[in-house]
Amino acid sequence: MSQKNGNTDNQYTFKIFRFNPDVDREPYYDTFISGFPRGTTVLEALLHIQETMDDSIAFRFSCRSAVCGSCGMLVNGAPVLACRTQLMALTGDQVLIEPLPNMDIIKDMVVDMKPFWDAYLRVEPWLHVNEEDTPEKEYLQSPDEVRKLDPYINCILCACCYGSCPVLGFEENYLGPAAIAKLFRFMSDSRDRRGAKFLEKVNSPQGLWACHTIFRCIDACPKDIRPTDTIEALRRKLVVYRFKKFFHLLKQDQK
Ligand code: SF4
Ligand code: F3S
Repeated sequence: MSQKNGNTDNQYTFKIFRFNPDVDREPYYDTFISGFPRGTTVLEALLHIQETMDDSIAFRFSCRSAVCGSCGMLVNGAPVLACRTQLMALTGDQVLIEPLPNMDIIKDMVVDMKPFWDAYLRVEPWLHVNEEDTPEKEYLQSPDEVRKLDPYINCILCACCYGSCPVLGFEENYLGPAAIAKLFRFMSDSRDRRGAKFLEKVNSPQGLWACHTIFRCIDACPKDIRPTDTIEALRRKLVVYRFKKFFHLLKQDQK
C-alpha cells in the first residue's frame, strides 16, 4: 500500500493482452504493477498505464460514462465496459485485460467490429413506414407505447453481448444478440409497419435459430437489455406467422 494525493492506493497487477498482427507472430501478455485509489475504473487505470508506462497499448474509449459503447473488453474473463468497471469491484488484485472475443484483432484490445455492424444492418434497424399512412406532422405515441420500448431502447451497441456469445465462436454468420434485440425493438414500435413477414429474413440457421439460449448475452449487457428474451419473442412471432400463412389465415396486407 502506498500514500498518494491523500488517498490510500491499492496495488494491482495488470496482465494485458498484446498483439499487433503487422509485427507479432503470436499474441503475448505484458505485466504492469501500479497503485490506484478507491473508485478508479479499469479505463482510468489503462489510461494511466498508457500515459506513464507504455504508450503503445491500444484500446478504444470515448465518453468515459457508459454511453458511447467504445470500451468493451474482457476484464478477468468477463465482457464489460472498462469505464464502468471499478478496480475495487474485482476479486483480488490481479487484473487480466483482453479484447472482446468473436472479432479479429486489429491491435491489442481494438477489434474489427465489421461483422457486428454487418449483422446490425441485416435487420434494417430503422422505422419501416407506409407512404399511405405517413402523418402530415409527427407520429404520435402513447406513454404505454413508449414504455413498451423502454427496456430495449438503451442499447449502446458496445458488442459486449456479441463478444460473450459462444455460438459466434463457431457460427461466424450468426446475427448475434444485439442485432436481434434491435430488430425486436423496432418490431415492437407502434410506428413500424414492417409486419411479421419481415421475420422471414431472419428465419435461418444463422438467424433466429442459431441461438442456443446460453444467456451469457444477458449477463454481459451493461444496459440490462435481455437479448435472449427478444430472441424467444421473435421466434414465437415467427412461428405464429408461419402457422397463419400455412393455413391461409393472414390478411392481404400481412402477406
Ligand atoms: Fe451492448 Fe447490451 Fe446492446 Fe449488446 S444489447 S450491444 S451488450 S448494450
Ligand atoms: Fe448467445 Fe445469448 Fe443465445 S449468449 S446463444 S445469443 S442466449
